[in-house]
Amino acid sequence: MVYLCEDKIISCDLQSLEGASGDLNQQFDHEIVYGPPAHASFHRMTIAPPAVLGIETSCDETAAAVLRGDRRILSSVVLSQVALHEVHGGVVPEIAARAHLDHCDEVVRRAVAESGVGWTGIGAVAATVGPGLIGGLVVGAMTGKAIALALGVPFLAINHLEGHALSPRLDPGVAFPYLLLLASGGHCQFLVVEDRGRYSRLGGTIDDAAGEAFDKTAKLLGLGYPGGPALERAAASGDPARFALPRPMAGRPGCDFSFSGLKTAMRHAVEALDGEPGARDVADLAASFQRAAADVVADRARNALRMAEERGVAPTALVVAGGVAANAEIRARLAAVGAGHGLELRAPPLRLCTDNAAMIAWAGVERLARGERDPLDAPARPRWPLDPRAA
Ligand code: KG4
Ligand code: ZN
Repeated sequence: MVYLCEDKIISCDLQSLEGASGDLNQQFDHEIVYGPPAHASFHRMTIAPPAVLGIETSCDETAAAVLRGDRRILSSVVLSQVALHEVHGGVVPEIAARAHLDHCDEVVRRAVAESGVGWTGIGAVAATVGPGLIGGLVVGAMTGKAIALALGVPFLAINHLEGHALSPRLDPGVAFPYLLLLASGGHCQFLVVEDRGRYSRLGGTIDDAAGEAFDKTAKLLGLGYPGGPALERAAASGDPARFALPRPMAGRPGCDFSFSGLKTAMRHAVEALDGEPGARDVADLAASFQRAAADVVADRARNALRMAEERGVAPTALVVAGGVAANAEIRARLAAVGAGHGLELRAPPLRLCTDNAAMIAWAGVERLARGERDPLDAPARPRWPLDPRAA
Protein backbone atom coordinates (compact mmCIF):
# COMPACT_ATOMS: atom_id res chain seq x y z
CA MET A 1 0.00 0.00 0.00
CA VAL A 2 1.12 3.50 -0.74
CA TYR A 3 -0.55 6.39 1.07
CA LEU A 4 -0.93 9.49 -1.04
CA CYS A 5 -1.81 13.02 -0.03
CA GLU A 6 -2.16 15.66 -2.72
CA ASP A 7 -0.11 13.43 -4.97
CA LYS A 8 2.69 13.08 -2.46
CA ILE A 9 3.50 9.67 -1.00
CA ILE A 10 3.26 10.20 2.73
CA SER A 11 3.62 6.61 3.84
CA CYS A 12 4.51 3.45 2.12
CA ASP A 13 4.92 -0.13 3.32
CA LEU A 14 8.01 -2.09 2.49
CA GLN A 15 6.23 -4.47 0.15
CA SER A 16 5.25 -1.63 -2.13
CA LEU A 17 8.85 -0.53 -2.27
CA GLU A 18 10.17 -3.97 -3.10
CA GLY A 19 11.61 -3.91 -6.55
CA ALA A 20 11.75 -0.14 -6.76
CA SER A 21 15.10 1.54 -7.19
CA GLY A 22 16.85 3.59 -4.55
CA ASP A 23 15.67 6.68 -6.31
CA LEU A 24 12.00 6.36 -5.56
CA ASN A 25 11.15 9.93 -6.37
CA GLN A 26 12.12 9.26 -9.93
CA GLN A 27 10.36 5.90 -10.07
CA PHE A 28 7.03 7.12 -8.83
CA ASP A 29 7.40 10.77 -9.74
CA HIS A 30 6.24 11.70 -6.26
CA GLU A 31 7.88 13.19 -3.26
CA ILE A 32 8.26 10.64 -0.50
CA VAL A 33 7.79 11.52 3.14
CA TYR A 34 8.21 8.65 5.57
CA GLY A 35 6.10 8.46 8.69
CA PRO A 36 2.49 7.72 9.65
CA PRO A 37 -0.28 9.22 7.55
CA ALA A 38 -1.18 12.48 9.29
CA HIS A 39 -3.42 14.28 6.86
CA ALA A 40 -7.18 13.83 7.26
CA SER A 41 -7.90 13.58 3.56
CA PHE A 42 -5.26 11.05 2.61
CA HIS A 43 -6.43 8.21 0.49
CA ARG A 44 -5.01 4.76 -0.06
CA MET A 45 -4.17 3.43 -3.44
CA THR A 46 -2.00 0.67 -4.79
CA ILE A 47 0.75 1.62 -7.15
CA ALA A 48 2.05 -1.26 -9.22
CA PRO A 49 5.80 -1.63 -8.65
CA PRO A 50 7.74 -0.46 -11.71
CA ALA A 51 8.09 -2.97 -14.54
CA VAL A 52 11.52 -4.06 -15.73
CA LEU A 53 12.23 -5.02 -19.34
CA GLY A 54 14.70 -7.92 -19.56
CA ILE A 55 16.69 -8.83 -22.68
CA GLU A 56 18.64 -12.08 -23.18
CA THR A 57 20.88 -12.80 -26.19
CA SER A 58 23.94 -14.57 -24.75
CA CYS A 59 23.61 -17.85 -26.61
CA ASP A 60 21.00 -19.22 -28.99
CA GLU A 61 17.77 -17.75 -27.64
CA THR A 62 16.62 -14.23 -28.42
CA ALA A 63 14.40 -13.41 -25.46
CA ALA A 64 12.64 -10.44 -23.89
CA ALA A 65 10.33 -10.23 -20.90
CA VAL A 66 8.56 -7.67 -18.78
CA LEU A 67 8.44 -8.36 -15.07
CA ARG A 68 6.90 -6.42 -12.25
CA GLY A 69 8.82 -5.84 -9.03
CA ASP A 70 6.24 -7.99 -7.23
CA ARG A 71 7.47 -10.98 -9.29
CA ARG A 72 4.61 -11.04 -11.74
CA ILE A 73 5.80 -11.99 -15.23
CA LEU A 74 3.71 -9.77 -17.51
CA SER A 75 5.20 -11.19 -20.70
CA SER A 76 7.99 -13.54 -21.73
CA VAL A 77 8.95 -14.08 -25.36
CA VAL A 78 11.63 -16.65 -26.23
CA LEU A 79 12.65 -17.09 -29.85
CA SER A 80 14.77 -20.23 -30.15
CA GLN A 81 17.42 -20.50 -32.84
CA VAL A 82 17.45 -24.31 -32.63
CA ALA A 83 16.33 -24.72 -36.24
CA LEU A 84 19.30 -22.63 -37.45
CA HIS A 85 21.93 -24.54 -35.48
CA GLU A 86 20.72 -28.13 -35.44
CA VAL A 87 22.05 -28.91 -38.91
CA HIS A 88 25.51 -28.03 -37.55
CA GLY A 89 25.04 -30.12 -34.38
CA GLY A 90 25.73 -27.14 -32.09
CA VAL A 91 25.61 -23.36 -31.81
CA VAL A 92 27.55 -21.51 -34.54
CA PRO A 93 28.46 -18.10 -32.99
CA GLU A 94 28.35 -16.11 -36.25
CA ILE A 95 24.92 -17.49 -37.20
CA ALA A 96 23.68 -16.81 -33.64
CA ALA A 97 24.86 -13.18 -33.73
CA ARG A 98 23.17 -12.48 -37.05
CA ALA A 99 19.93 -14.09 -35.90
CA HIS A 100 19.92 -11.98 -32.72
CA LEU A 101 20.44 -8.88 -34.83
CA ASP A 102 17.57 -9.85 -37.15
CA HIS A 103 15.07 -10.61 -34.39
CA CYS A 104 15.96 -8.73 -31.20
CA ASP A 105 13.92 -5.59 -31.94
CA GLU A 106 10.83 -7.58 -32.84
CA VAL A 107 11.09 -9.85 -29.78
CA VAL A 108 11.44 -6.81 -27.49
CA ARG A 109 8.52 -5.05 -29.20
CA ARG A 110 6.33 -8.13 -28.71
CA ALA A 111 7.27 -8.49 -25.05
CA VAL A 112 6.40 -4.85 -24.35
CA ALA A 113 3.12 -5.11 -26.31
CA GLU A 114 2.07 -8.34 -24.58
CA SER A 115 2.92 -6.96 -21.14
CA GLY A 116 0.13 -4.42 -21.41
CA VAL A 117 2.17 -1.70 -19.66
CA GLY A 118 3.43 -0.04 -22.85
CA TRP A 119 6.76 1.75 -23.19
CA THR A 120 5.81 4.34 -20.59
CA GLY A 121 5.27 1.57 -18.06
CA ILE A 122 8.88 0.38 -18.31
CA GLY A 123 10.79 1.59 -15.24
CA ALA A 124 14.18 0.06 -16.04
CA VAL A 125 15.93 -2.07 -18.66
CA ALA A 126 18.07 -5.11 -17.74
CA ALA A 127 20.13 -6.79 -20.47
CA THR A 128 22.56 -9.70 -20.35
CA VAL A 129 26.07 -8.39 -21.06
CA GLY A 130 27.98 -11.59 -20.24
CA PRO A 131 29.18 -14.27 -20.11
CA GLY A 132 28.40 -15.72 -23.52
CA LEU A 133 28.99 -15.31 -27.24
CA ILE A 134 30.22 -11.79 -27.87
CA GLY A 135 28.17 -11.11 -31.02
CA GLY A 136 24.84 -11.82 -29.34
CA LEU A 137 25.86 -10.02 -26.14
CA VAL A 138 26.63 -6.84 -28.08
CA VAL A 139 23.24 -6.96 -29.84
CA GLY A 140 21.27 -7.36 -26.59
CA ALA A 141 23.38 -4.88 -24.61
CA MET A 142 23.14 -2.17 -27.28
CA THR A 143 19.40 -2.69 -27.68
CA GLY A 144 18.88 -2.44 -23.92
CA LYS A 145 21.04 0.65 -23.55
CA ALA A 146 19.32 2.42 -26.44
CA ILE A 147 15.88 1.75 -24.93
CA ALA A 148 17.00 2.85 -21.45
CA LEU A 149 18.46 6.06 -22.91
CA ALA A 150 15.35 6.80 -24.97
CA LEU A 151 13.00 6.18 -22.03
CA GLY A 152 15.25 7.94 -19.50
CA VAL A 153 15.19 4.93 -17.15
CA PRO A 154 18.00 3.02 -15.37
CA PHE A 155 20.04 0.42 -17.26
CA LEU A 156 21.24 -2.78 -15.59
CA ALA A 157 24.09 -4.83 -17.11
CA ILE A 158 23.23 -8.36 -16.06
CA ASN A 159 25.45 -11.41 -15.61
CA HIS A 160 23.64 -14.31 -17.32
CA LEU A 161 24.80 -16.69 -14.58
CA GLU A 162 23.35 -14.36 -11.96
CA GLY A 163 20.08 -14.52 -13.89
CA HIS A 164 20.09 -18.31 -13.47
CA ALA A 165 21.36 -18.10 -9.88
CA LEU A 166 18.60 -15.73 -8.72
CA SER A 167 15.82 -17.20 -10.87
CA PRO A 168 14.59 -19.54 -8.09
CA ARG A 169 13.75 -16.38 -6.11
CA LEU A 170 10.97 -15.61 -8.56
CA ASP A 171 9.29 -17.90 -6.07
CA PRO A 172 9.07 -15.65 -2.97
CA GLY A 173 9.80 -18.58 -0.63
CA VAL A 174 13.48 -18.88 -1.59
CA ALA A 175 15.58 -16.83 0.85
CA PHE A 176 19.33 -16.23 1.12
CA PRO A 177 21.61 -18.04 1.74
CA TYR A 178 21.06 -21.14 -0.39
CA LEU A 179 23.21 -23.80 -1.98
CA LEU A 180 22.91 -23.65 -5.73
CA LEU A 181 23.80 -26.18 -8.39
CA LEU A 182 24.03 -24.16 -11.57
CA ALA A 183 23.99 -26.68 -14.40
CA SER A 184 23.60 -25.46 -17.95
CA GLY A 185 25.14 -25.98 -21.38
CA GLY A 186 28.24 -23.97 -20.55
CA HIS A 187 28.46 -24.12 -16.76
CA CYS A 188 28.33 -26.67 -13.97
CA GLN A 189 29.17 -25.48 -10.48
CA PHE A 190 28.07 -25.42 -6.86
CA LEU A 191 27.76 -21.95 -5.35
CA VAL A 192 26.70 -20.66 -1.99
CA VAL A 193 24.40 -17.77 -2.91
CA GLU A 194 24.94 -15.60 0.16
CA ASP A 195 23.15 -12.55 -1.15
CA ARG A 196 22.64 -10.71 -4.42
CA GLY A 197 26.16 -10.29 -5.78
CA ARG A 198 27.81 -12.51 -3.15
CA TYR A 199 28.65 -15.96 -4.44
CA SER A 200 31.14 -18.54 -3.13
CA ARG A 201 32.07 -21.28 -5.55
CA LEU A 202 32.52 -24.62 -3.80
CA GLY A 203 33.45 -26.66 -6.86
CA GLY A 204 32.59 -27.31 -10.48
CA THR A 205 33.42 -29.21 -13.59
CA ILE A 206 37.01 -29.75 -14.61
CA ASP A 207 36.04 -30.51 -18.22
CA ASP A 208 32.56 -30.55 -19.79
CA ALA A 209 29.50 -28.88 -18.32
CA ALA A 210 26.61 -31.21 -17.46
CA GLY A 211 24.42 -29.90 -20.28
CA GLU A 212 27.31 -30.22 -22.69
CA ALA A 213 27.68 -33.89 -21.69
CA PHE A 214 23.96 -34.44 -22.36
CA ASP A 215 24.27 -32.64 -25.71
CA LYS A 216 27.33 -34.62 -26.85
CA THR A 217 25.85 -37.93 -25.76
CA ALA A 218 22.58 -37.13 -27.54
CA LYS A 219 24.56 -36.35 -30.67
CA LEU A 220 26.41 -39.67 -30.38
CA LEU A 221 23.05 -41.44 -30.13
CA GLY A 222 21.65 -39.55 -33.11
CA LEU A 223 19.06 -37.77 -30.96
CA GLY A 224 19.67 -34.29 -32.37
CA TYR A 225 20.22 -30.89 -30.82
CA PRO A 226 19.63 -29.62 -28.17
CA GLY A 227 20.41 -32.96 -26.63
CA GLY A 228 19.21 -32.70 -23.02
CA PRO A 229 15.45 -32.83 -23.58
CA ALA A 230 15.81 -35.38 -26.43
CA LEU A 231 17.97 -37.65 -24.30
CA GLU A 232 15.55 -37.43 -21.39
CA ARG A 233 12.66 -38.40 -23.67
CA ALA A 234 14.60 -41.39 -25.06
CA ALA A 235 15.64 -42.47 -21.57
CA ALA A 236 12.01 -42.63 -20.41
CA SER A 237 11.50 -46.03 -22.07
CA GLY A 238 15.03 -47.36 -21.50
CA ASP A 239 16.69 -49.71 -19.00
CA PRO A 240 19.15 -47.68 -16.87
CA ALA A 241 20.92 -50.84 -15.68
CA ARG A 242 21.76 -52.37 -19.08
CA PHE A 243 25.09 -50.61 -19.61
CA ALA A 244 27.70 -50.44 -16.83
CA LEU A 245 29.01 -46.88 -17.01
CA PRO A 246 31.50 -45.12 -14.71
CA ARG A 247 30.47 -42.49 -12.13
CA PRO A 248 33.42 -40.07 -12.54
CA MET A 249 34.53 -38.30 -9.33
CA ALA A 250 31.88 -40.06 -7.20
CA GLY A 251 33.23 -40.94 -3.78
CA ARG A 252 36.04 -38.40 -4.03
CA PRO A 253 36.33 -35.49 -1.61
CA GLY A 254 35.08 -32.09 -2.76
CA CYS A 255 32.30 -31.37 -5.22
CA ASP A 256 34.06 -31.12 -8.57
CA PHE A 257 32.65 -32.83 -11.63
CA SER A 258 34.17 -34.55 -14.63
CA PHE A 259 32.06 -35.80 -17.51
CA SER A 260 34.68 -36.66 -20.13
CA GLY A 261 35.18 -40.24 -18.87
CA LEU A 262 31.45 -40.87 -19.01
CA LYS A 263 31.34 -39.54 -22.55
CA THR A 264 34.17 -41.85 -23.62
CA ALA A 265 32.54 -44.82 -21.91
CA MET A 266 29.36 -44.10 -23.86
CA ARG A 267 31.28 -44.11 -27.13
CA HIS A 268 32.85 -47.46 -26.24
CA ALA A 269 29.44 -48.87 -25.31
CA VAL A 270 28.05 -47.85 -28.70
CA GLU A 271 31.08 -49.30 -30.51
CA ALA A 272 30.72 -52.58 -28.63
CA LEU A 273 27.21 -53.08 -30.00
CA ASP A 274 26.58 -55.48 -32.80
CA GLY A 275 26.09 -52.94 -35.62
CA GLU A 276 24.21 -49.65 -35.51
CA PRO A 277 22.20 -49.06 -32.29
CA GLY A 278 18.49 -49.81 -32.70
CA ALA A 279 15.69 -47.92 -30.94
CA ARG A 280 15.90 -50.18 -27.86
CA ASP A 281 19.68 -49.76 -27.64
CA VAL A 282 19.34 -45.98 -27.89
CA ALA A 283 16.71 -45.90 -25.13
CA ASP A 284 18.83 -48.13 -22.86
CA LEU A 285 22.00 -46.16 -23.56
CA ALA A 286 20.19 -42.87 -22.85
CA ALA A 287 18.69 -44.24 -19.63
CA SER A 288 22.07 -45.64 -18.50
CA PHE A 289 23.80 -42.33 -19.20
CA GLN A 290 21.12 -40.33 -17.39
CA ARG A 291 21.32 -42.64 -14.36
CA ALA A 292 25.11 -42.29 -14.24
CA ALA A 293 24.89 -38.49 -14.54
CA ALA A 294 22.20 -38.34 -11.83
CA ASP A 295 24.28 -40.58 -9.52
CA VAL A 296 27.25 -38.26 -9.94
CA VAL A 297 25.15 -35.14 -9.36
CA ALA A 298 23.65 -36.66 -6.19
CA ASP A 299 27.08 -37.69 -4.85
CA ARG A 300 28.56 -34.25 -5.54
CA ALA A 301 25.55 -32.47 -4.02
CA ARG A 302 25.93 -34.44 -0.78
CA ASN A 303 29.53 -33.26 -0.50
CA ALA A 304 28.66 -29.69 -1.47
CA LEU A 305 26.06 -29.52 1.31
CA ARG A 306 28.61 -30.83 3.78
CA MET A 307 31.17 -28.29 2.58
CA ALA A 308 28.69 -25.43 2.94
CA GLU A 309 27.87 -26.52 6.46
CA GLU A 310 31.58 -26.82 7.33
CA ARG A 311 31.98 -23.20 6.23
CA GLY A 312 29.33 -22.21 8.72
CA VAL A 313 26.63 -21.62 6.11
CA ALA A 314 23.11 -22.68 7.04
CA PRO A 315 21.40 -22.89 3.65
CA THR A 316 17.65 -22.34 3.58
CA ALA A 317 17.30 -24.68 0.59
CA LEU A 318 19.09 -26.76 -1.99
CA VAL A 319 18.46 -25.07 -5.31
CA VAL A 320 19.07 -26.20 -8.88
CA ALA A 321 18.95 -23.84 -11.85
CA GLY A 322 20.06 -23.74 -15.49
CA GLY A 323 18.90 -25.90 -18.39
CA VAL A 324 19.81 -29.23 -16.76
CA ALA A 325 17.48 -28.38 -13.86
CA ALA A 326 14.71 -29.32 -16.29
CA ASN A 327 15.74 -32.98 -16.01
CA ALA A 328 13.24 -34.87 -13.84
CA GLU A 329 15.61 -37.67 -12.74
CA ILE A 330 18.27 -35.19 -11.66
CA ARG A 331 15.66 -33.15 -9.80
CA ALA A 332 14.35 -36.24 -8.03
CA ARG A 333 17.83 -37.31 -6.92
CA LEU A 334 18.67 -33.81 -5.69
CA ALA A 335 15.38 -33.68 -3.79
CA ALA A 336 16.39 -36.87 -1.96
CA VAL A 337 19.83 -35.44 -1.10
CA GLY A 338 18.25 -32.22 0.19
CA ALA A 339 15.75 -34.17 2.27
CA GLY A 340 18.67 -36.02 3.90
CA HIS A 341 19.81 -32.63 5.22
CA GLY A 342 16.31 -31.43 6.10
CA LEU A 343 16.30 -29.10 3.09
CA GLU A 344 13.72 -28.72 0.38
CA LEU A 345 14.83 -28.76 -3.25
CA ARG A 346 13.76 -25.59 -4.99
CA ALA A 347 13.94 -25.22 -8.74
CA PRO A 348 12.41 -22.70 -11.10
CA PRO A 349 9.46 -23.88 -13.18
CA LEU A 350 10.60 -25.67 -16.35
CA ARG A 351 10.12 -22.68 -18.67
CA LEU A 352 12.42 -20.63 -16.43
CA CYS A 353 15.16 -23.31 -16.26
CA THR A 354 16.36 -22.87 -19.82
CA ASP A 355 17.43 -19.48 -21.12
CA ASN A 356 14.77 -16.77 -20.89
CA ALA A 357 14.58 -13.05 -20.22
CA ALA A 358 12.28 -13.14 -17.19
CA MET A 359 15.24 -14.29 -15.09
CA ILE A 360 17.32 -11.41 -16.48
CA ALA A 361 14.58 -8.92 -15.62
CA TRP A 362 14.37 -10.47 -12.13
CA ALA A 363 18.13 -10.03 -11.60
CA GLY A 364 17.50 -6.41 -12.60
CA VAL A 365 14.70 -6.10 -10.04
CA GLU A 366 16.96 -7.50 -7.30
CA ARG A 367 19.71 -5.02 -8.17
CA LEU A 368 17.35 -2.05 -8.47
CA ALA A 369 15.95 -2.87 -5.05
CA ARG A 370 19.47 -2.30 -3.72
CA GLY A 371 19.77 1.02 -5.49
CA GLU A 372 22.13 -0.31 -8.15
CA ARG A 373 22.34 0.68 -11.80
CA ASP A 374 25.00 0.61 -14.51
CA PRO A 375 26.45 3.22 -16.86
CA LEU A 376 25.55 3.10 -20.53
CA ASP A 377 29.15 2.28 -21.42
CA ALA A 378 29.09 -0.97 -19.42
CA PRO A 379 30.99 -3.38 -21.69
CA ALA A 380 29.90 -6.80 -22.99
CA ARG A 381 31.94 -9.48 -21.19
CA PRO A 382 32.39 -12.88 -22.86
CA ARG A 383 33.91 -14.18 -19.59
CA TRP A 384 32.40 -13.16 -16.26
CA PRO A 385 32.62 -15.62 -13.34
CA LEU A 386 30.17 -15.17 -10.48
CA ASP A 387 32.88 -15.78 -7.89
CA PRO A 388 35.99 -13.96 -9.17
CA ARG A 389 38.09 -15.47 -6.36
CA ALA A 390 37.50 -18.95 -7.81
CA ALA A 391 37.88 -18.06 -11.50
O1 KG4 B 1 20.61 -22.71 -19.30
P1 KG4 B 1 20.54 -23.14 -20.72
O2 KG4 B 1 19.25 -22.97 -21.47
O3 KG4 B 1 21.64 -22.44 -21.58
C1 KG4 B 1 22.92 -22.19 -21.13
O4 KG4 B 1 23.11 -21.14 -20.45
O5 KG4 B 1 23.78 -23.04 -21.43
O6 KG4 B 1 20.98 -24.67 -20.72
C2 KG4 B 1 20.97 -25.41 -21.90
C3 KG4 B 1 21.50 -26.79 -21.58
C4 KG4 B 1 21.72 -27.63 -22.82
O7 KG4 B 1 22.97 -28.26 -22.72
C5 KG4 B 1 20.57 -28.63 -22.75
O8 KG4 B 1 20.87 -29.86 -23.36
C6 KG4 B 1 20.40 -28.78 -21.25
O9 KG4 B 1 20.56 -27.48 -20.74
N1 KG4 B 1 19.05 -29.29 -20.95
C7 KG4 B 1 18.83 -30.49 -20.37
C8 KG4 B 1 17.42 -30.64 -20.33
N2 KG4 B 1 16.83 -29.52 -20.87
C9 KG4 B 1 17.87 -28.71 -21.23
N3 KG4 B 1 19.67 -31.42 -19.91
C10 KG4 B 1 19.12 -32.55 -19.37
N4 KG4 B 1 17.78 -32.77 -19.33
C11 KG4 B 1 16.91 -31.86 -19.77
N5 KG4 B 1 15.59 -32.09 -19.72
ZN1 ZN C 1 21.80 -20.16 -19.49
